[in-house]
Amino acid sequence: MCGIFAYLNYLTPKSRLEVLDLLVTGLKRLEYRGYDSTGVAIDSPDSKNIVMVKRTGKVKVLEDAIQEHFTGGEYSEPVATHIGIAHTRWATHGEPCERNSHPQRSDEGNGFVVVHNGIITNYNDVKTFLRKRGYEFESETDTEVFAKLVHHLWKTHPTYSFRELVEQAILQLEGAFAVAVKSKHFPGECVAARRSSPLLVGIKTKTRLATDHIPILYGKDDKKQTSDQETRPHGQTRELPVLPRSDSTSEFMPLEEKEVEYFFASDASAVIEHTNRVIYLEDDDVAAVRDGTLSIHRLKKSLDDPHAREITTLKMEIQQIMKGNYDYFMQKEIFEQPDSVVNTMRGRVRFDGNAIVLGGIKDYIPEIKRCRRLMLIGCGTSYHSAVATRQLLEELTELPVMVELASDFLDRNTPIFRDDVCFFISQSGETADTLMALRYCKQRGALIVGITNTVGSSICRESHCGVHINAGPEIGVASTKAYTSQFISLVMFALVMSEDRLSLQQRRLEILQALSNLADQIRKVLKLDSKVQELAKDLYQHKSLLIMGRGYNFATCLEGALKVKELTYMHSEGIMAGELKHGPLALVDDSMPVLMIVLRDPVYVKCMNALQQVTSRKGCPVIICEEGDEETKAFSSRSLEIPRTVDCLQGILTVIPMQLLSYHIAVLRGCDVDCPRNLAKSVTVE
Ligand code: M6R
Repeated sequence: MCGIFAYLNYLTPKSRLEVLDLLVTGLKRLEYRGYDSTGVAIDSPDSKNIVMVKRTGKVKVLEDAIQEHFTGGEYSEPVATHIGIAHTRWATHGEPCERNSHPQRSDEGNGFVVVHNGIITNYNDVKTFLRKRGYEFESETDTEVFAKLVHHLWKTHPTYSFRELVEQAILQLEGAFAVAVKSKHFPGECVAARRSSPLLVGIKTKTRLATDHIPILYGKDDKKQTSDQETRPHGQTRELPVLPRSDSTSEFMPLEEKEVEYFFASDASAVIEHTNRVIYLEDDDVAAVRDGTLSIHRLKKSLDDPHAREITTLKMEIQQIMKGNYDYFMQKEIFEQPDSVVNTMRGRVRFDGNAIVLGGIKDYIPEIKRCRRLMLIGCGTSYHSAVATRQLLEELTELPVMVELASDFLDRNTPIFRDDVCFFISQSGETADTLMALRYCKQRGALIVGITNTVGSSICRESHCGVHINAGPEIGVASTKAYTSQFISLVMFALVMSEDRLSLQQRRLEILQALSNLADQIRKVLKLDSKVQELAKDLYQHKSLLIMGRGYNFATCLEGALKVKELTYMHSEGIMAGELKHGPLALVDDSMPVLMIVLRDPVYVKCMNALQQVTSRKGCPVIICEEGDEETKAFSSRSLEIPRTVDCLQGILTVIPMQLLSYHIAVLRGCDVDCPRNLAKSVTVE
């Protein structure tokens, strides 16, 4: 959801055309996050002005516009030091159009230009304040107030450094955001900052860096800054408090390299082809580059702050984020599942010794065993992985397990106790609702366990402990391989918790055995692809699809319906088969498309009962059943057979045909598979 990409080359000559190419490629890597318009800003050929190009629609439209706009030979001249910023916008304030796209500017002369991710909640107050001082606004965005506020501060405090201006502006703003700012008044400099929206800095140098840490700097009066901001009354338009400047030059040793390139990005996929050395910024960090030197400053000081930000080496490879021979990222990610599930278990499950070690939580297991209850919290697909594994967790941990949608959990001000253990499940690790729920539980003293796929994400960093699901980068907006890896991570946790329960050993062995066969069984299910494609041809022109099941497969119904909705824009509903008689059966007739999951598990008889209820209303369901189950198959002319596995892992095999089905229906309906309309990969606003 919104993507920031900025590139600064210091003493590493690049032509403006090369810079533009880099910026556009960076935006392409962020496309999967979801967006509706784009923009870039670079220096004009005489370096005295800033030129911007913005477009509604895809990055390709921007790329074409750039080719038309930057035709002069002067754009091919190398420039030793330059900063370019770029953005993909997902509309929150104002319709998607060029006027509202980023960069947003401070004035007609483009003195300061800003790209921004997130929401500035008090932008109306700041806007009123600025209007009174003669500023006129040209967009409906909250971002524009930021650009104009920096400009106002620059005019009123001409001796301030660029970083100080941005810091002062941020101190007046409320909400969750990340920004990168460029200015014609401060050529060759970039300032970026985050508060609750992800942002990282990639560093590329010719030689290996002399340090793995960037010290953190504090303004001398940061305590005063914090309290000034906290006491500022809402909704008032008084003169902005301008706070004492920080004079930190004697307090730090910034990263100094002769020739260096910096990348500021919303996530690692945009920088990995340039460098694997990154710093994940924390909330209230301000990163500034001046004369090629990167320094990181804190707006607020807290007792548990580390003294430095670590430079992390990314393990990700560029190939992992390329489509390869697949038409879409989603398709690639579905077909990666035989490998991604193994990667989730790699180094953790020892099939020969029937042992499981989850390094990220092992020290906390005794505390978890003593807890009052387990709470699994997430949104969308991540929430479904909790639904899918709840029954097994209850069985193997013998603890009460609550499953919560993060947004609803927060709405209810749910009571949380110090002896609760709260799991936050999130592929991106940045979902705002999940992160807010995490902070809510942490404040109340619960133990926080993160289950994420994104190393360095906010949820990762703010959890006490956790499991990294290791599914590899998931680019398609629709979550697929992350779901099966989240599922397995939670199953592994259940197995760890039951390690010393004698009465559960047989069950554990059965599950471990099934886990060892899983990759091959997934490969087998993926062979159904062409059959599923044929089925999609039968279904794609319908308006609706009902997906029914119960027990371990209810989560597949919910997840399958979510995939169909998000990718194909068809109506779809996951129905608990036990609820049929209580309402949904009224929807069933000979024209309503129905898919039913009927497997040979403890709820088989009940599922057969539901199947008969559907067929006796002239429903013609497609059945997902076990390989060779002729008796069940006989109820329909259309079925998909999946290999037999232990009941609690069936959901991994039954969800794959649903992923394939939604994918093929989306292709047949001409939908944008990787970037469905109105959706974003990482939902960083509440
Ligand atoms: O990154 P997260 O797992 O926290 O994201 C949560 C949901 O937004 C996400 O799973 C969403 O439902 C998917 N796009 C569904 O395919």
